[in-house]
Amino acid sequence: MVEPGSLGGRVAIVTGGARGLGRAFCLAFAQAGAAVAVADLNFEQAQNTTAQILAKGGDALALPVDVSDETSAQRMAAQTAERWGRIDILVNNAAIYGGLARKPFDAITPEEWDRVMAVNVKGPWLCAKAVSPWMKAQKAGKIINISSATFYSGSANWAHYVTSKGGVIGLTRALAKELGDYGIHVNAIAPGFTLTEASQQLIPNAERYGVERGALKRAEQPEDLVGAALFLASSASDFMTGQTMIVDGGRQFN
Ligand SMILES: NC(=O)c1ccc[n+]([C@@H]2O[C@H](COP(=O)([O-])OP(=O)(O)OC[C@H]3O[C@@H](n4cnc5c(N)ncnc54)[C@H](O)[C@@H]3O)[C@@H](O)[C@H]2O)c1
Repeated sequence: MVEPGSLGGRVAIVTGGARGLGRAFCLAFAQAGAAVAVADLNFEQAQNTTAQILAKGGDALALPVDVSDETSAQRMAAQTAERWGRIDILVNNAAIYGGLARKPFDAITPEEWDRVMAVNVKGPWLCAKAVSPWMKAQKAGKIINISSATFYSGSANWAHYVTSKGGVIGLTRALAKELGDYGIHVNAIAPGFTLTEASQQLIPNAERYGVERGALKRAEQPEDLVGAALFLASSASDFMTGQTMIVDGGRQFN
C-alpha cells in the first residue's frame, strides 16, 4: 500500500510518534522515503520507533518534546532542520487521549480541562508556529492535524477531549487560510475509534466497540489511517487545504 519513494527527499516531523497512530505514520512515511523525526514526550518509546525505522534501512531521529511548551516545540523544529536542512511535513498527532479518564462534564476540574487544551489544541498551534519559518522559506509544506470523528458524533463524559478535537479542526481551517500564500497546506484527519494501545486501555473489548455502527464492519487499525496521511503529505493533495478527512469505516458521516 505504501508506494516506496513517494515521499523521497522529504523531511517529516511526527509528534506523538512513540506509539499508536503516530508510530504507524512514522513507519509509513519512512517506507515512502521520508526522513522522520519521531517526537514524543516519551523519549524512550520514540527511540524504539526510530530503531524500527533504522532496522528497515530508513532514516529517523528520536526527539524529546512536550508539544504544550513553546521552547520545546521550537527546539524540536530546530533539531530537525539542523539534521536534515529542511522541514516538509508536520503531523500534529500528539495528544492527551490514552489514560484520559472519562467523567461527566461537571466533574472535570479546570486543571484537567486546561491540560487537555494545552496539549491537544495549543500543542498543534505551537508546533505549526515552530515549523512555519522553514516551510515559509521553502514556499512549501504539509501540516496534518489529527482530530477525531468523536467531534462529529459527540461523546458523553468526554467534554474536554471532544471540544479539543473540534479546536483542531478550527485551527486547521484558520491556518489553511493564513498559510496558503506560502504554499503551505493544512489539513486534518479525523480517525474513528482505532485499536491502539491507548484505546485498548480505555475501553474493555475494544475490538468489538462500535463495529456494528460502521458501514465496514470491522475494527479500525492504525494502518487504516496511513493512506490518508500519505495522501495529505504528498503532492497528490496539492490543491487541497483546510479540509478534514473522516477515516472511520463509515461510522460517521459529516
Ligand atoms: N486511537 C483512537 O481511537 C483515536 C481516534 C481518534 C483520534 N485519535 C487521535 O490520534 C492520536 C493518537 O492516538 P493514539 O491512540 O495513538 O494515542 P496515544 O495516547 O497512544 O498516543 C499519543 C502519543 O502522544 C504522546 N504525547 C502525549 N502528550 C504529549 C506531549 N505533551 N508532548 C509530546 N507528546 C505527547 C504520548 O506519549 C503518546 O506517544 C491522538 O491525537 C488521538 O487523539 C485516536
